[in-house]
Amino acid sequence: MVESNQMDAFVAWAKRRGVIWPSSEIYGGLSNSYDYGPIGVEMKNRLRAHWWRSMVHERNDIVGLDSPIILNPKVWEAAGHTENFTDPLVEDLVTHKRYRADHLDDPTKSPDGNPVSEPRNFNLMFKTMIGAVEDEAAAAYLRPETCQGIFINFKNIMDTGRQKIPFGVAQVGKSFRNEITPGNFTFRTREFEQMEMEFFVREEEADKWFDYWVEARLQWYIDLGVDKKDLRLVKHPKKALAHYSKATTDIEYQYPWGWGELEGIANRGSYDLTQHQKFSGKDMAVFDEETKEKFTPWVIEPAAGLDRALLVVLLNAWQSYGQGRGNVASARSSSETRSQPSAISSHPNPNSDQAEVVLGVVSQLAAYDVAVLPLIKKPELLKMSQKLVASLREAGKHVFYDESGSIGRRYRRMDEIGTPVCYTVDFESTEGTTKGTVTARDRDTMKQERIKIDNL
Ligand code: GAP
Repeated sequence: MVESNQMDAFVAWAKRRGVIWPSSEIYGGLSNSYDYGPIGVEMKNRLRAHWWRSMVHERNDIVGLDSPIILNPKVWEAAGHTENFTDPLVEDLVTHKRYRADHLDDPTKSPDGNPVSEPRNFNLMFKTMIGAVEDEAAAAYLRPETCQGIFINFKNIMDTGRQKIPFGVAQVGKSFRNEITPGNFTFRTREFEQMEMEFFVREEEADKWFDYWVEARLQWYIDLGVDKKDLRLVKHPKKALAHYSKATTDIEYQYPWGWGELEGIANRGSYDLTQHQKFSGKDMAVFDEETKEKFTPWVIEPAAGLDRALLVVLLNAWQSYGQGRGNVASARSSSETRSQPSAISSHPNPNSDQAEVVLGVVSQLAAYDVAVLPLIKKPELLKMSQKLVASLREAGKHVFYDESGSIGRRYRRMDEIGTPVCYTVDFESTEGTTKGTVTARDRDTMKQERIKIDNL
């Protein structure tokens, strides 16, 4: 995992390896805005798909939805965001820098030690205009959360599917918040992707389902390899609850800069459906066939951030070995021996040029499933390698093919982006009793074994 003094090395690695880099860089950048490079986008796509599979495809009781970023502005009035989606903003009276009052150690002083103004509520929603006329009537908002698209479609989903309470609706997509103090790499940005699921239940079963989803979501991160000791559950005190929430528990992660929110699980009561019923005049209640009664369901909401979840996966999986992975040097083939193979690094120096990074990410989130590497550019080896690539792709694998550079360097490049296994097509692959085999080299143990291509 990334230690507090390794954050710069981690950010540099993310850029160097095409994972994440500052956005709009050729124009001087845009603060707190990031692009996902070729490796980052693959990992992000996989994490999103993994969430969708575990929430929707692997269950009978959750369906999906995709609603727009710009909704009728009435949605935000009904949801309470026009009035309540605010953060307390204060201004340093000397430097005029702005801060979130609830993020200051001393609410009367800025981090520079200067006095600050009285807090005022700052609405976090981004305003935009629909159409060519710039007047208030055309004002609209970029959604600050994906879940409202689900609530306003509750009736449509009930009417078109075969759902019965309890059931859930999942949505993934971009959300926007004009954060006063974004920062800590991709932890808090103004544009981000959310993965939210609204689970509709009976009031009397709300506590049971709340506990269920807190546990299920915590386990989801543990199953993704996130170290249990770096995760904890934190209950929001009553006075800190969001305007819609009856209870909220955060899953927190121990980031290099301290504990912070990773995902929130909220009991939203019947707040949203009741509000939309009031503002739209449409009946949001459901009819219970057994009791012949109408009732408005309550909602349990696990709300995750895709960018933040990926950041946690990366921080957790990233390992830097100061002078190379000396402690497992004996397992390394001679082709991987570095200039100081016996240097056992008990104090890794992440800033050393020789620091070796390994992204020990679970295989289902790695950008590539496998790399195919011909040992040298000899026609038989290239031909065999390309055939292997084609058959692996046919089997649905995402394959990286690389035929140039030293084999040790090629292995290290794959370690750095987390490719779990490399298949090397070498001289033994094409000759004698070992014909039709490759060397399979494991990212974590660096062990190499000869395997028949037919058995891969
Ligand atoms: N619908 C409820 C809701 O949006 P939230 O706690 O405000 O709840 C849910 O947001 C998750 O979205 C957070 O736990 C976090 O992972 C992610 N998130 C929120 N604001 C973010 C930001 N500015 N940048 C990155 N991720 C953010």
